[in-house]
Amino acid sequence: MKAYVVGRMQIFHPLKRILQRNFCALPEGMASSSEELMKYEYEYSAHNYHPIPMVFSQAKGACIWDPEGNKYLDFLSAYSAVNQGHCHPKVTNALVEQAQRLTLSSRAFYNDKFPIFAERLTTMFGYEMMLPMNTGAEGVETALKLVRKWGYEKKKIQPNEAIIVSCCGCFHGRTLAVISMSCDNEATRGFGPLLPGHLKVDYGDAHALENIFEAHGDRIAGFLFEPIQGEAGVIVPPDGYLKQVRELCSNYNILMIADEIQTGIARTGKMLACDWEDVRPDVVILGKALGAGVIPVSAVLSDKEIMLCIKPGEHGSTFGGNPLASAVGIAALDVVKNERLAERAIRMGEEFRKQLFEVQKQFPQIIKEVRGRGLLNAVELNKEELSPVSAYDICLKMKERGILAKPTHDTIIRLAPPLTISLEELNEASMVLQNVLEMDLPVMRKQMPNAHKPTPHEPCDRCWRHTYKVPDTES
Ligand SMILES: Cc1ncc(COP(=O)(O)O)c(C=O)c1O
Repeated sequence: MKAYVVGRMQIFHPLKRILQRNFCALPEGMASSSEELMKYEYEYSAHNYHPIPMVFSQAKGACIWDPEGNKYLDFLSAYSAVNQGHCHPKVTNALVEQAQRLTLSSRAFYNDKFPIFAERLTTMFGYEMMLPMNTGAEGVETALKLVRKWGYEKKKIQPNEAIIVSCCGCFHGRTLAVISMSCDNEATRGFGPLLPGHLKVDYGDAHALENIFEAHGDRIAGFLFEPIQGEAGVIVPPDGYLKQVRELCSNYNILMIADEIQTGIARTGKMLACDWEDVRPDVVILGKALGAGVIPVSAVLSDKEIMLCIKPGEHGSTFGGNPLASAVGIAALDVVKNERLAERAIRMGEEFRKQLFEVQKQFPQIIKEVRGRGLLNAVELNKEELSPVSAYDICLKMKERGILAKPTHDTIIRLAPPLTISLEELNEASMVLQNVLEMDLPVMRKQMPNAHKPTPHEPCDRCWRHTYKVPDTES
């Protein structure tokens, strides 16, 4: 009879189905190795990610431990969701306290935490109202619906004619409406038909934006953008771009929608990255660090003139504004304010880039650029010099030396540690990068001679251009 292995037990055929359903493969409290856990995930979970092979088991501040007790430093912060540091005691205490009292009311009723959170958030960011959701993508969906509604009700766009303009190279999440704006073929191919009502413009190019506004202004309800494009590789727009966008949006009666899900809540050294140019968007989307990496909390901020276009029953979420998320959100904002994390991000960011520039000086052929703002930084490697090694391979080696970072695209390594990170911990990351380039890269090159040449980046299906670079605005 054929034998099957489920968990640690060998089961014979007739029992297989029943036992598979009832048998807890990894009993609670039972230690499991990293290798075993990764195998389980590969077997039982969809393959929609390509993770660095490292298992998080415990975390504190910027430190992570795997199940074997090895210590690492986190330089991704769950894509900037853990600005306050992992398991911040003020946030986890708020979570536990609230979890013991009340977790969910749904907004069919009121609860005694959400109004406090709403007041705190709007006051902190200077908007009249907020609409609570859970994930970042839901926040973006909410903003798109709100802006379309405003377009019909206030701007008097003809029914079903409203357009949202977004940027080439943008990343706003993974839902259908959101990927309908994506220039990443992997995100869009095989998921059509995409949602109509979108136009694209080069990121950082105010002149191109003006041309689109001029040509289609009557139908355009909003312009959605990231103040720094995170997933595209920490692309910082030219100085003055945000101010120009503000001016154009005001002139053409188009809502300026800032996706600050990754850049907001002190990540770049200001509460919002738009604050760097003293610009106030009409609509701001927050997520990630609004829940301090503890639970998903997102929100859309705007003034009443816009927000009240959405009426009862027209939008919502069972969990949006739940008391647990609200308690966590309040604590998350308190930590950022009380620990002056924005100022810290500026200081630490300057120091970190200084260190990275030093590494670049030693490897000028390999490191093409060091860029970023606050603690949202990236090192772009030179594709030709690196080949056949990729940024992913470099990240694997950094992991072996205790630093956790993730590449975006073939050549860019994003470095975004928790804002609570110490100077010594930052030093460690730049030292590790230097060691990897000095010691590991030559060995890797020898081991994989032309094994996998990096594939040239395909142009976007939609506009047939290469994205992920700021266009030359002078031309
Ligand atoms: C700028 C930006 N918008 C939206 C999202 C989507 O957020 P979530 O993954 O929580 O849906 C992300 C996630 O990386 C992001 O960086």
